[in-house]
Amino acid sequence: MADTLGLYTFKIFRYNPDKDPKSRYDTFAVEVRQGMTILDCLQKIKGSLDGTLSFRRSCRSAICGSCAMNINGKNDLACHLQVSRLRGRTITINPLPGYPLIKDLVVDMGEFYRHIAAVMPWLVRRSPCPDRELLQFPADRDRIDSAVNCILCGSCTSSCPQFWFNPRYLGPAALLKAYRFIFDSRDEGRDERLAIVDDRYGVWRCRTVFNCDEACPKKLHPNEAIAGLKIEALKRSV
Ligand code: F3S
Repeated sequence: MADTLGLYTFKIFRYNPDKDPKSRYDTFAVEVRQGMTILDCLQKIKGSLDGTLSFRRSCRSAICGSCAMNINGKNDLACHLQVSRLRGRTITINPLPGYPLIKDLVVDMGEFYRHIAAVMPWLVRRSPCPDRELLQFPADRDRIDSAVNCILCGSCTSSCPQFWFNPRYLGPAALLKAYRFIFDSRDEGRDERLAIVDDRYGVWRCRTVFNCDEACPKKLHPNEAIAGLKIEALKRSV
């Protein structure tokens, strides 16, 4: 058929801590058609070759962030990445690095979400609430626009060596979330949030490695946000 890309080999990390003495890679041959994503192939493997394969997925639209995994050495969303965009006929899939493993491609994101929660990811208001919508000038919204688009897939934090060495480091995703509220013209929790990021496990752990920018499937720039937070933290301390 004209739309067939041919046979691809999927080399997939497998480990079930309840049964397996150690991890391994299983290989599966999949006939791939034009337009198929990595997630389509994983669904095909699970549906017809090995129903025990575990991986997260939900929206299939690059919105929920559930299907982030390491594909040919790079963190990406399985539902967003088409097989035709990869080089070679062998595709290696690993779980996101840096997080504790649960099974196969499923990792424990508990610490990741605790870090997000630590920066208070909500609008803080001290003044009495207005009886109408809190409006914002377009220029103010532009300032936080890209940070708002974070889908919390965890790809950036998972790619950061500082996080690998010290999982208490808030990491780029949580710091991007902090930036999103600290620079929101409607927020009134700026000082409290700045104190949280200006901490030994906050912005100063970042060594501008840039892996986080590279890894973001939504093309956001956590590294720039962290630089902005460092400046604000310095201003606050003088
Ligand atoms: Fe890590 Fe990104 Fe900083 S990869 S060290 S958070 S620039």
